Amino acid sequence: MHINRRIQTLDEFTIQQLRDFPHATGELSGLLRDIGLASKRVNVEVNKAGLVDILGDAGSTNIQGEEVKKLDVYANNQLVGVLKHGISCAGIGSEELDDILVFDDEVSTNSKYVCLFDPLDGSTNIDVNVSIGTIFSVYRRVSELGKPATREDFLQAGNRQVAAGYIIYGSSTMLVYATRRGVNGFTLDPSIGEYSLSHPDIKCPPSGKMYSVNHGNFFQYDEPVKRYITACQKKDKTTGGPYTQRYIGSMVADVHRNLIKGGIFMYPGTKDRPMGKLRLLYECNPFAFIVERAGGVATNGKIPILDIKPTELHERTPFFIGSKLMMDELEGYLKEV
Ligand code: AHG
Repeated sequence: MHINRRIQTLDEFTIQQLRDFPHATGELSGLLRDIGLASKRVNVEVNKAGLVDILGDAGSTNIQGEEVKKLDVYANNQLVGVLKHGISCAGIGSEELDDILVFDDEVSTNSKYVCLFDPLDGSTNIDVNVSIGTIFSVYRRVSELGKPATREDFLQAGNRQVAAGYIIYGSSTMLVYATRRGVNGFTLDPSIGEYSLSHPDIKCPPSGKMYSVNHGNFFQYDEPVKRYITACQKKDKTTGGPYTQRYIGSMVADVHRNLIKGGIFMYPGTKDRPMGKLRLLYECNPFAFIVERAGGVATNGKIPILDIKPTELHERTPFFIGSKLMMDELEGYLKEV
């Protein structure tokens, strides 16, 4: 029988990486496998989202007599379930939950990682068949093993992430994750229900042609941001502008595209919301870690996102992320008075 060994599944890949570190415990691989499993379940439901009239609307009872949960609640429950019953996670923080959830059984209290996630980002796009995603972030605990995880485990600066990743439910479903060793992308092969390595060692191109920002907020942005956006639209020999504007309203999709093709994504503060919309712990830190590991840059307009020491679980931050040279160019504008 011929087995195509050129295709490496997510499990095979993480086990291969473990072999390079004989002292590794395999907990991180277990955690990634758990998240991969939850995402496959979410994927099945996301693909059925258009059948809502047949299956029943959120909050109602479907034709099988089951209660239909909103997809973001469903995604949250799947992630909590696999991580609670796995052997690698001492507790979670979720954009869907007000507070952290600490697992207090013996296995979990001896686990060295905690996980933060946005179970379904871009959820307003579900009804219209636009790509959405799950974002996750993994930290090594700072609290004592054998005892329940504490709030300090979750309120660590992004530069202390051990791993971060996202799943994009798009024209195909992909899981991309980063560790200090690099960024790799896996595409879900529906015929075998496995993620297979499709984008090894992803590098963010140093420059690109696309900028992503909500133009509807233009007059609410600070002057330097407005000047940069205006410059993106002008012909410029040094930058190769004008750039193309692309804004999906699902950060996972926008940043994924820019990571692969090069580009810049911005969610600046506005007059009404000076800290912007995006959450530091669930959205910005994981993407900052991934994009920086791939050679890009992520800031809040003043300092690297990964250097921010969080004080609250749900704190928000202005967010600028993308190709190195485009971010350098932006920084020049933001420095102007
Ligand atoms: P939500 O999950 O509530 O749909 O938010 C999505 C996030 C992010 O993914 C996206 O880039 C941004 O919010 C879009 O916000 P605006 O509609 O304000 O531009």
